[in-house]
Amino acid sequence: VKRIRTHHLREMKERGEKFTMLTAYDMYTAATFDEAGIEVLLVGDSASNNVYGNETSLPVTVDELLPLTRAVARSAKRAMVVGDLPFGSYQASPEQGYLTAVRFMKEAGAHAIKLEGGAEMAPVIEKCARGGVPVMAHIGFTPQSEHALGGYRVQGRGEAADRLLADARAVQDAGAFAVVMEMVPGDVATRVTKELEIPTIGIGAGNGCDGQVLVWQDAFGLRTGRMAKFVKQYADVHGVLLEAARAYADDVRAGTFPGPEHTF
Ligand code: KIV
Ligand code: NA
Repeated sequence: VKRIRTHHLREMKERGEKFTMLTAYDMYTAATFDEAGIEVLLVGDSASNNVYGNETSLPVTVDELLPLTRAVARSAKRAMVVGDLPFGSYQASPEQGYLTAVRFMKEAGAHAIKLEGGAEMAPVIEKCARGGVPVMAHIGFTPQSEHALGGYRVQGRGEAADRLLADARAVQDAGAFAVVMEMVPGDVATRVTKELEIPTIGIGAGNGCDGQVLVWQDAFGLRTGRMAKFVKQYADVHGVLLEAARAYADDVRAGTFPGPEHTF
């Protein structure tokens, strides 16, 4: 199988073919999503709240994300593996961003990195891109800026649409190979997608984007509770695991597991 590369995503955009991205944080999910033909696996800083038990993406560190990224990179034969730079690991300077990005590639085997921000991140994107690091940008609602943005809010509404388009252009001009748009009105995301040459990847941005991304624990129902409007639930993994764990516990308590067939 041939590895998905940045030019493949660009070619898919040009052909009007949609592509897919999912988060992955470990070996079996990575291998399974890869087998399903998902083009891009994102080791998101959403591991903060989906793996490490934090309430937001802010606390997760580079040292916590690198081992997860390594596991995903070892397990995906075809998918492009994108490492998500955590809060505070790239915003200080282009040098800081580049050095962090290089760690994801050298120490963890990521094929690309993702970072949040628009025009203000152009120097960081440029430094990475010139230094051999493919960069996926992320604009619209950017969870690392949750507190600065005043909570989970749709971005790019009304007057702000022009600024969103300017941010999209700025990250493209800086050398990003793709851009995630999160929580943006569908018509605005469609307009940005049409105006950009690089592929756009939507999450809560309607179906006019070139690709889509979801956090797998949300989409496949490992996480329960309140979901964002943009999440569609494709499975009930929580329910499957809950039933399996209960059935196992029942068997052990009843003395029916292990049976003779499990015993030496
Ligand atoms: O960390 C993450 O999971 C993300 C995606 C939702 C785009 O950044
Ligand atoms: Na993220």
